[in-house]
Amino acid sequence: MKILIKNGNVVLNDKIEVLDILIDGEKIVEIGKDIKQSKDYKYINARGKYVLPGGIDVHTHFHMDFGGTYSSDDYVSGSLAGAINGITTYLDYAIMKKEKTFKELLDKKLQLSKNSYTDYGFHIALTRADNDILKEMESAKDLGISSFKCFMVYKKENMMISDDNLLKILKKAKTCNLLVNIHAENVDEIDKNIETFVKENKLNNYYHYLSRDEQVEYEGVLKALKIAKEADAPIYIVHNACKDGINAIRKAKEQGQIVYAETCPQYLNFTSDVYKKEDSQNYVCSPAIKNKESQLALWDAIYDKTIDVVATDHCPFLLKEKLWGINDFRKTPNGCDGIENLYPYMLDKANRGVISYVDAARLVSYNPVKIFNIPFKGEIKVNNDADIVIYNPRNKYVFNKEEMSFSKSDYSIWEGYEYSGKIETVILRGEFLLKNNTPVAKIGFGKFIKRG
Ligand code: URP
Ligand code: ZN
Ligand code: ZN
Repeated sequence: MKILIKNGNVVLNDKIEVLDILIDGEKIVEIGKDIKQSKDYKYINARGKYVLPGGIDVHTHFHMDFGGTYSSDDYVSGSLAGAINGITTYLDYAIMKKEKTFKELLDKKLQLSKNSYTDYGFHIALTRADNDILKEMESAKDLGISSFKCFMVYKKENMMISDDNLLKILKKAKTCNLLVNIHAENVDEIDKNIETFVKENKLNNYYHYLSRDEQVEYEGVLKALKIAKEADAPIYIVHNACKDGINAIRKAKEQGQIVYAETCPQYLNFTSDVYKKEDSQNYVCSPAIKNKESQLALWDAIYDKTIDVVATDHCPFLLKEKLWGINDFRKTPNGCDGIENLYPYMLDKANRGVISYVDAARLVSYNPVKIFNIPFKGEIKVNNDADIVIYNPRNKYVFNKEEMSFSKSDYSIWEGYEYSGKIETVILRGEFLLKNNTPVAKIGFGKFIKRG
């Protein structure tokens, strides 16, 4: 099928131009000023609309065994929720538990994800660093895996990596040209804070925030930077939420350390005051959402490009599960929904002039692709996959979970958000996922993308 998209404001890497785009099969085959219409082409008039590369969410947790349950979106519902909102590719976290090799884990994950609506890949989260695992890292790229994850937290969940093991993994990653993503918080400080709050019977969700406050994250980031420096390895720090942490990353970058920074819309949009709300449980995630100062610092870091990527950390649960911790924050499963909001949110910010459309595409598509080596995506360019989002800046809507959501979770922290424009059409490898506001995505169309 050939599709001609005419006269859209095409968001390129560094500028926006009114251009036509011709798609043939899975690829973009021509970009130009006046591509001739033919009766065989499907025609889209994009005049007055923005044409952007498909969104890449590099931080999802579908079907994650966590907090005493599984996150409520699987690869089918989660990918559909993303597809309708401009996310054409996602990188999910596959977390090693009892598997002997990460090949074994990857095989399981490929089975679970085979009906994905959109394209995808995996980061492997390592929970140990024995010789077998380090050896297996050498052949990771043959499996299409080029990034790993280490959690400096989640001790009781058996997901935590010690500092020594983190150093070993980073040294190995450096020699194999792999990237390690780090969840950076100071676990000892968290444990100490929790112990104090439990003794004082301070157990509502506000204490989730106070036990994982600004200092906890700052110390985690400092430690991650220090260990990475010792290993002389690049790192990617996930879900940054605090001022001092992001400022430390800026300083490290200025000093020449290769460190990439991610944040998520929940940290850009809310403050720790959410933990005083009646539905506080819905915002419980780690790192916790921080104070106003941190929120503003994150925006500063978006403006000066200290932050490279905005992703979701999509990890919702069912409301009844989130309520487990209503009298004891330790029992609230950690994670928020986000995949239906990421690109709409960033484009809303572009539409309101907070950032540019080029910034939105860079943070949600171009940079994720460059950092994580995702081939043929992230940019509207001849020979790239025809992964395209068409955004109407005049089509306002208010998010209403009940009527608009494809996620299996039964609440959304984005309920009632007023979007100033709307993603109306989404194309993945030349196939419509959303066509002029009508969902037409096909189950199982997504494919595993090998990254080198
Ligand atoms: O609270 C969160 N973020 N849950 C998902 C696991 C993680 O730490 O990314
Ligand atoms: Zn994390
Ligand atoms: Zn996460």
